[in-house]
Amino acid sequence: MFITFEGIDGCGKTTQAKLFFEYLKKNAKDDEVIFTREPGGFDGEPNFRQILTSGCLKNVASEVFVFMADRAEHASRVITPAIKQGKTILMDRYHDSTVAYQCYGRQLDKMTVDKMFEFAKLPMPDLTLYFEISVEDSYARVLNRGNLDSIEKSGQEFMQRVKNGFDSLARDNKDRIITIKSSKKSIAEIHEKVVKCYENFIKAR
Ligand code: TYD
Repeated sequence: MFITFEGIDGCGKTTQAKLFFEYLKKNAKDDEVIFTREPGGFDGEPNFRQILTSGCLKNVASEVFVFMADRAEHASRVITPAIKQGKTILMDRYHDSTVAYQCYGRQLDKMTVDKMFEFAKLPMPDLTLYFEISVEDSYARVLNRGNLDSIEKSGQEFMQRVKNGFDSLARDNKDRIITIKSSKKSIAEIHEKVVKCYENFIKAR
């Protein structure tokens, strides 16, 4: 089973993905559940994460190409083999992030980016959890963390467009994406929601 965790910067998805990973591991055999992330979810060269977060790319189209190249390599090296072995894959960001950040945020054509996903024959997640928070809360958390990466430095208007992108994806893909309202909620409360969503999803399968 392939589950992705999505949302704008500072939404808490990484904390929740890691907590849920520990939760699932308690009832699973070694290696039955894996946790991975994008960009940069595989060992070895090339280091796409460094390229994407250092601000060295000057063309928004090349940003998309590198995110998609990173995803295609990640799929071949990690995701597809794990799916074939029947593992549960928890993934911090995936293609919905490219649609939200590059298509809505950077205003590039969504149809082209979705075509790239099809062209690379990338696997579709079975379930996506979208951690929805306000742009104000996102910014407060990102500033608090300090050391902003080049995408986080793009400003509040950019992040509002990215949020609109995630909201719109969630509205249009209700069969796959579940929205978890995460502003002003404790980590434990949100974790409980994640577990409930997963259990409901398993029951309905
Ligand atoms: P992420 O690792 O989630 O951020 P953090 O280091 O704060 O946990 O992602 C790094 C940045 O890359 C983040 O600002 C979102 C952005 N991103 C895109 O713009 N497009 C994409 O396709 C992906 C996967 C990430």
